[in-house]
Amino acid sequence: MATRVNVSPQARIEYLHTRPISLDGMAADVRRGLAQTPKSLPSKLFYDDVGSGLFAQIMRMPEYYPAQAEQEILTRHAGQIVGLMPEEPFILLDLGSGDGTKTRLLIDELHRQGRAFRYVPIDISAAAIEKQVEHLAQALPDLPVHGIVGDFFTGVGGVRRTFRPMPIFALFLGSNIGNFDQTQALVFLRTLYNLLAKGDHLLCGFDLQKNPAVIRLAYDDPAGLTARFNYNLLLRLNRELGANFDLTKFVHYATYEPLAGVARSFLLATEAQVVHLAYCNATFGLEAWEPIHTENSYKYTLPGLAHLAGQTGFAVVEHLFDARRYFTDAIWRRT
Ligand code: AVJ
Repeated sequence: MATRVNVSPQARIEYLHTRPISLDGMAADVRRGLAQTPKSLPSKLFYDDVGSGLFAQIMRMPEYYPAQAEQEILTRHAGQIVGLMPEEPFILLDLGSGDGTKTRLLIDELHRQGRAFRYVPIDISAAAIEKQVEHLAQALPDLPVHGIVGDFFTGVGGVRRTFRPMPIFALFLGSNIGNFDQTQALVFLRTLYNLLAKGDHLLCGFDLQKNPAVIRLAYDDPAGLTARFNYNLLLRLNRELGANFDLTKFVHYATYEPLAGVARSFLLATEAQVVHLAYCNATFGLEAWEPIHTENSYKYTLPGLAHLAGQTGFAVVEHLFDARRYFTDAIWRRT
């Protein structure tokens, strides 16, 4: 059973009972990742309250082009996108909404047109959902908002059951899908396909392959914000799992591999050291210059996208671009 909180007559928040990341689950993931060679840590651990705040800052920095590109697409094509949404009352589902800044561009256009819809943002960060729902309840008091704190699939399944038979227009913005490798992206899209109904839509942001120098700079900015975002992962483990990572003994390193179309982020041990995790009483040795892999950010090609849509069963409706064609918002229909 989920817990519900009413924020206003029209806005409420649902906290799914399955805690998104329990401390035990997190400790198990971290242990497994650090026992492997090469060592790795799950990217989803970036987004505690500090990390979500740092990511919001990353989205505002000039080097992080994906945020500006998608902002440009949604600003320029808001009318066209809203024109593809159902005429009858529908659910605007926002997967991994974060603070919802970009979605607001579409909500405002829908509002201007007097369209009937219910906004359903889902995010694993309770703080992000609370902030967004409270803000919308103030700014647009007549808009029905149903925020969900939890993981995507539990959330979408529940949404389908609660609001059947209303059509769904789902958003997965910000190239969040980039953290998945090919197989994981396929599984994600197929699962979503099965949870949607025939005629529903998905608008998904994909970052495109481009000059590697541009990509590298986005993941290794000179001001060091991305490095702080990466370091926060270790600080979080120190805070929540009683780890004793010494940040002065790690450097942030980011690469782009054009063959695989992936930006990868690492934390490298600058000297041999031993790290202890008090929460599970585990110890890990690191060699000098041993990497901990913290993130993959996959970049797509247009033929690759067409192929991906075909493999998952979605029909391509429209691919929208920014002026530099750095990024695309793909609009697909569930067949
Ligand atoms: C939120 C996963 C889309 O991969 O570009 C930004 C996260 N990491 N800078 C990305 C991120 C470093 C971001 N996503």
